[in-house]
Amino acid sequence: MAAIEITGGVQLDGEVWISGAKNAVLPILVASLLGDEPSFISNVPHLQDVTTTMELMGRMGASLAVDDHMRIEIDPRGMHQFEAPYDLVKTMRASILVLGPLVARYGRAVVSLPGGCAIGSRPVDLHLRGLQALGAEVSVVNGNIEASAKRLKGANIIFDTVTVTGTENIMMAATLAEGTSVIENAAQEPEVVDLANFLNAMGAKISGAGTNTLVIEGVKSMHGAEYSVLPDRIETGTYLVAGAITRGHVRVTRTRPRDLDSVIEKLRETGAEIEVGDDWIDLNMHGRRPKSVDITTAPYPGFATDMQAQFTALNTIAEGTAIITETIFENRFMHVQELQRLGANITVKGNTAIVKGVSELNGAPIMATDLRASAGLVLAGLVANGTTLVDRVYHIDRGYEIIEEKLGQLGARIRRVSSPN
Ligand code: EPZ
Repeated sequence: MAAIEITGGVQLDGEVWISGAKNAVLPILVASLLGDEPSFISNVPHLQDVTTTMELMGRMGASLAVDDHMRIEIDPRGMHQFEAPYDLVKTMRASILVLGPLVARYGRAVVSLPGGCAIGSRPVDLHLRGLQALGAEVSVVNGNIEASAKRLKGANIIFDTVTVTGTENIMMAATLAEGTSVIENAAQEPEVVDLANFLNAMGAKISGAGTNTLVIEGVKSMHGAEYSVLPDRIETGTYLVAGAITRGHVRVTRTRPRDLDSVIEKLRETGAEIEVGDDWIDLNMHGRRPKSVDITTAPYPGFATDMQAQFTALNTIAEGTAIITETIFENRFMHVQELQRLGANITVKGNTAIVKGVSELNGAPIMATDLRASAGLVLAGLVANGTTLVDRVYHIDRGYEIIEEKLGQLGARIRRVSSPN
């Protein structure tokens, strides 16, 4: 197993490019299964979750080819097995995203029911209720979701809670339904919009993406499409925080600044000077200690839960006290105990963490528990005195492409080592 070793204390300085968005590429890859022809997806990040998704689609009979630039061709014409087994679903919950496309295009699906995960219980009841509303027969048998339908029928669906992959699953299913579907209280995340754009490029008729109401006029069939995935706003935000926490100067390029309004606003509150261009963001702390910022996570356009751990890390060494409120997942403070090992002063009460900024952190061996928590730990390691060893970095590899190279390019003393455990 691999670990990441960081020797803290370097003010980061330089430029870093941003990869395609993990949470857009996963639904886009599986959406290609809705077509009658091959699709070509570019700006695909080299991530473990992408590999898992490709394995999943390959096992079902889709043919996949990847070129040197990580452009993926998916040909769904050989699809013959409509199952997402437990061995893949347990490593990647996003496997649930095949449910909608399989039922809509092939009339049946068996998807292992994802269990709980490190950040919360994460039920998928809204996905199942949405599919039922579209006319699918859905049951859970021996730990598997079994769903079938001759042809789905358009329906009005109101989600009780805003759900990102739930919206994506039902939107994909509705593209091939007979008649029109309306999804209310839909997720407005940029990744949902990117998926809708890809589906429309395949011949779907979706309007309202980016608002809380989606209207999907069902079509009989869809063709293939070429599509370039949007840049990863969470990776972008993570490198900006890396600049802020080290009091450095970081420019992120090949990104889409408009997706980061709430993050940029919070970074400005820390005292960062931020300039924004068409596809870049420049953050300069001018060597100053960041000021604490309060954070409350919320669905987009609110502050992303996927940036909470990174801002918790930033607040550990900031001037003042911050209140961090996590409203999306009930257990997303697993990084707190690890940050405490570095000397952070954090108290958690329910869904709130009170972070009193300390003047310094000290390196220690720590353990990653989930993807964004591990990003927070790496960020803390960048400022901790001495050496921090972040173990279980497979969590990071699920969502950050070549993180040690990208941070190394900014001047960080960071390397991948084999885990001592
Ligand atoms: C997506 O997860 C992302 N994953 C997560 O990214 C992200 O943290 C999350 O959205 C919130 O922004 C992908 O896009 C692949 P939800 P998702 O359904 O769709 C409750 C990362 O690190 N809920 O929007 O699974 C749920 O428990 C990750 O990249 C139900 O109650 O999240 C949560 O409280 C991890 N029933 C809330 O809704 C349901 O059927 C929002 O979750 C579905 C969700």
